[in-house]
Parts: sequence; C-alpha cells; structure tokens
Amino acid sequence: MCFTSNRKKGNKVTESAWEEPSDLIIEQIEIGPMQNFTYLIGCRSTREVAIVDPAWDIDGVMQHINEKGYKLTAALATHYHPDHVGGSFSGHTVEGIDRLLEVNPVKLYTHKLEAEGMKKVTQISDSDMVKVESGDRLTLGNVEIEFLHTPGHTPGSQCFRVKNTLISGDTLFINGCGRVDLPGSNSDDMYHSMCKLCSLPDDTLLLPGHNYGHVPNATMGETKKINTHLRINDLETWHSIMGH
Ligand SMILES: [Fe+2]
Repeated sequence: MCFTSNRKKGNKVTESAWEEPSDLIIEQIEIGPMQNFTYLIGCRSTREVAIVDPAWDIDGVMQHINEKGYKLTAALATHYHPDHVGGSFSGHTVEGIDRLLEVNPVKLYTHKLEAEGMKKVTQISDSDMVKVESGDRLTLGNVEIEFLHTPGHTPGSQCFRVKNTLISGDTLFINGCGRVDLPGSNSDDMYHSMCKLCSLPDDTLLLPGHNYGHVPNATMGETKKINTHLRINDLETWHSIMGH
C-alpha cells in the first residue's frame, strides 16, 4: 500500500492518488481557493469512477478523468454547501454539479435530508438525485461504497466508507470538525456523529473535505491522538468546547 502525490504546477487540479494492490481507485484532488478536496473513487479493472463533491473546476477534473481513461458514472455529495457542490454565496458563484450535468450527466447521490437544500443551492431537480440513507451502498465494478449519515454540520451530511478509507466531507477534519453555528447545523448531532466515527477501526484512512490539517490525510488512529473533538465523552463538555 502506498501513497503518491503529483502536484501539477500552475494547474488548479492537484492530484494525489492513493494506490494499493487492489481494484480500488482513490484520488484526492485539492481544488479551488478554499482548500477543498474533491475525490475520485472507483474500480481499476472496470475504470468506473464516482466523483465526490464536484465543485470549482469541473472541466479540469473531467479532463483529468478522460486522460486517465476513467468512466464517470456517479456523483456523491457530502453536503449541500456551495464550495462542495457549486452554487452562490456571499456574492460569489461556484461552478459545480450543474456544470457536471451539462458535460457528463450522472445522478447525484445525496442524503435524503439534504435534498431540499441541494435543490435550492444548486438549482438541480429531484430527478437529478438519488436520495440515500445511512447504510445504503453503491457498487462501482468491484468496489462498494457505504453511505454513513453524519449530521451536525448540515442535517444530511454524510461520509463515504470504501474499504478502509473514510471520506468525511465537513464532518471530520484531521485537526477538528465542521462548523455547527451555520443555518441547519446542530451541535448535539455533531457530537453523536463524532462518537460514531470514533468507533471506526484505527487503520481507517481519513480523507477530509478540506486541506485544513498539517497533513492532507491521516489514519483514524493518528487523528484520535491529535483531534480533541474525538476525545470528548459527554455532551456537557462538548457544549463548553463548541460554544453551542
Ligand atoms: Fe460545509
């Protein structure tokens, strides 16, 4: 198992590919001005891939997908914020799922509690989405992706578990967790989501939604040692630390 990194100078797409001697494709791509990570998950033998959180530079990512000979068959959303799926905020418009549907139409797998927010933010319709819930699975060739509902940052935030990796969106970062002071956030839900993720095996590779940490990814074992949000054992302490 090895980790390779390939930073393309002057290009918005930065690619990191985590390669293991199996059929699994996992690529971590840093994209846009907010240190977002987009991911490609797929199957090496069938070349089918799904994109996680398509935003900022759809044409650049599609060029990369085509150069690699991948076939994009699905899109997965960790949550509906515009820096992850496109849309408008604070006077800025971010390219995202709407552009992807123009150039490579696929279904967007969204947690059912996130669907209404997703439509408002991205202008996509119900027929563009597959509404999923915790425990649902998506199969790409020989690779199975499990959806884990982890509310807190937003009501329908979800993580994706693929073999011993976890793509965590804005729920869990290497050194922290997502904000719980935004519209739709819920601090108590975030506490329970932290407890849920804390129970994952220590060798799970954590792949967050932003490059906010001192490293772009880490095992859950390493993360538990440095991330205080994963070491809180009661809601009272959680509220005192989070301020909510
Ligand atoms: Fe977010």
